[in-house]
Amino acid sequence: MFPLHRGRRLRVNESVRSLVRETSLSPADFMFPMFIIEGENQQIEIPSMPGIYRRTIDLTVKEVQELYDLGIRAVNIYVKVNDDLKDNTGKEAWNPNGLMQQAIRAIKKAVPEMIVMPDVALDPYSMYGHDGIIKNGDIVNDETVEALVKMALSHAEAGADFVAPSDMMDGRILRLREGLDKAGFPHVGIMSYSAKYASAFYGPFRDALDSAPKETGKVVPKDKKTYQMDYANRIEAIKEAVWDAEEGADIVMVKPGTAYLDIVREVKDAVNIPVAVFHVSGEYAMIKAAAEKGWFDHDKIMMEQLYCIKRAGASLISTYFAKEAAKLLQK
Ligand code: PBG
Repeated sequence: MFPLHRGRRLRVNESVRSLVRETSLSPADFMFPMFIIEGENQQIEIPSMPGIYRRTIDLTVKEVQELYDLGIRAVNIYVKVNDDLKDNTGKEAWNPNGLMQQAIRAIKKAVPEMIVMPDVALDPYSMYGHDGIIKNGDIVNDETVEALVKMALSHAEAGADFVAPSDMMDGRILRLREGLDKAGFPHVGIMSYSAKYASAFYGPFRDALDSAPKETGKVVPKDKKTYQMDYANRIEAIKEAVWDAEEGADIVMVKPGTAYLDIVREVKDAVNIPVAVFHVSGEYAMIKAAAEKGWFDHDKIMMEQLYCIKRAGASLISTYFAKEAAKLLQK
């Protein structure tokens, strides 16, 4: 009680503050999401994500080396597939020589210590921009899961360290685990996008991959709300994360990040495996846009958000800021 207790004694200068700081942040906490395109020696900036590029495999590999040198130890890989390869089955997703599979092989060859986590979901390969196969106007669950298993196996064969299902179909973690084990990949991990909300914060990502659900004139759902979660829900997130952990996920993820930190904390308290947070494209875009206008200090806001995500319970953070933040942390 005052005057015996004076909280400000622990805030008196940076040395004392650093002694009692409860959360630390390091480049090894980050995963960097990367967008890959066909071709050679090309990089195209994504208009709604300044500083983030779609890159061909050769340039991606160079970037991965740079990330590794900065202390970043994992990349999340997404591909932008040409329209003529898209259909309703998503079969290009498990083409052993597809863009994703080539990218995994190239990265693992060039930087073997970098942990490669390809995205497992059909949306980049779907003519409708959905994460699953559509029948009679609905995304069919079990058939989609079988397709995801084929996709994940092709990633494992290409050398992926983890597969990262972001589709939110029911039962996919169990089937993926069984499929990987049976095919001789018991060492390949699963990072499950467990509590993935149907969020408008994914807008810039869908620009990057041209993967937004399409208005086709046919009876196709115009959003992802029958599989991604309702942002009004909390208990459901815990249920999904606990189920995924029981089904064999090695890491569960909450997504998006900053608006969902209550969920991060609760999931963290509910499971005994690492919790990842995806600081998504829209969160990145908001900071870039406001900083461009000079409305706040970019680096300070970036670090505050990353620290707060970590404080909420994240063991690792997938963030488009990984490189910039790693550079700042090295200073
Ligand atoms: C697709 C996928 C999405 C993101 C990661 N994987 C978009 C979506 O579900 O529509 C979003 C990532 C971001 O916004 O940064 N399965």
